[in-house]
Amino acid sequence: MKILVTGASGNVGCYVVNELLKMGEEVVAAGTDIPKLIQLFGEQVTHVQFDFTKPESFERTLDGVDRIFLMRPPHLGKPEDLYPFIEAAKKHSIQLISFLSLMGIEKNTIPPHHKIEKFIEASGLPYAHIRPGFFMQNISGIHAFEIKEQDRIFIPAGKSQTSFIDAADIGLSIATILHDPNQYKNTTHTITGPEALDYYQIAVILSRVTGRKITYAKPGFLNYRTHAIKNRGLDKGYVNVTVALYFMTRMGTAKAITNTFFELTGKNPRTFEQFANENRGAFMQ
Ligand SMILES: NC(=O)c1ccc[n+]([C@@H]2O[C@H](COP(=O)([O-])OP(=O)(O)OC[C@H]3O[C@@H](n4cnc5c(N)ncnc54)[C@H](OP(=O)(O)O)[C@@H]3O)[C@@H](O)[C@H]2O)c1
Repeated sequence: MKILVTGASGNVGCYVVNELLKMGEEVVAAGTDIPKLIQLFGEQVTHVQFDFTKPESFERTLDGVDRIFLMRPPHLGKPEDLYPFIEAAKKHSIQLISFLSLMGIEKNTIPPHHKIEKFIEASGLPYAHIRPGFFMQNISGIHAFEIKEQDRIFIPAGKSQTSFIDAADIGLSIATILHDPNQYKNTTHTITGPEALDYYQIAVILSRVTGRKITYAKPGFLNYRTHAIKNRGLDKGYVNVTVALYFMTRMGTAKAITNTFFELTGKNPRTFEQFANENRGAFMQ
């Protein structure tokens, strides 16, 4: 039987696919953009045109599948957006559904992941929720613009600390769990990087890696929101969710460190400095 990977072209999904292939699993890579999936994985996987908002795409996506990596695309802000697909999965013999959730979600009812986790549990599908800390890819991705163009980190996180994790390490954790579904039935896993850093420390590391002086601007929420929407043209809904997440971060919700990655994989998670060195190009002008 095959393992379905939703968001297969995403930060985490692409590592889930590659790690599963290394383990000898058959993979169905799903998404709305088939050329992107072909470019990423060639003929190593089955590609399927899948859209959470199009129920007519569900049956072909679930055909021959017995395990699922489920992620919520960031622009689908309502938990209900994922419910029809989870309902459809119930009609198949699914051994394990592993949902990409969020660290601390068990105590935080605001992000959609909280309700999605509950919905999966109530569905009776065997589950393994993955609750990672903030991705290192946030800094090399959405926040790289100001680092590259202005030599500054422009994130409204105050003096808070974050136990950043590399999406590659999350992908390996998820593949490990899906490869052995019986062992991980009805479990939850909070996965973090090895250290909690504040953004002043991130700036020091990035200065070392790039050879330029990078500073942390420490913007307030309003200043960040205005900049993100007006100057960068980012989607308002997305920016609002980001601001809410950094509000939580300032309350200390992003700094816990767990040993889960090591327990699952027998490896140490990457440090931010290793990640920044490996992805130096993302920060260069
Ligand atoms: N960033 C963080 O620090 C962090 C931390 C913890 C949890 N998370 C959670 O992780 C999730 C994001 O994961 P990610 O960063 O791997 O995602 P991502 O890189 O933003 O990728 C989004 C994926 O969703 C697919 N997609 C978009 N619209 C779709 C639709 N209508 N139907 C089906 N697929 C669709 C895209 O593929 P196509 O283009 O082919 O459609 C793409 O593969 C979010 O739920 C976020 O809350 C993030």
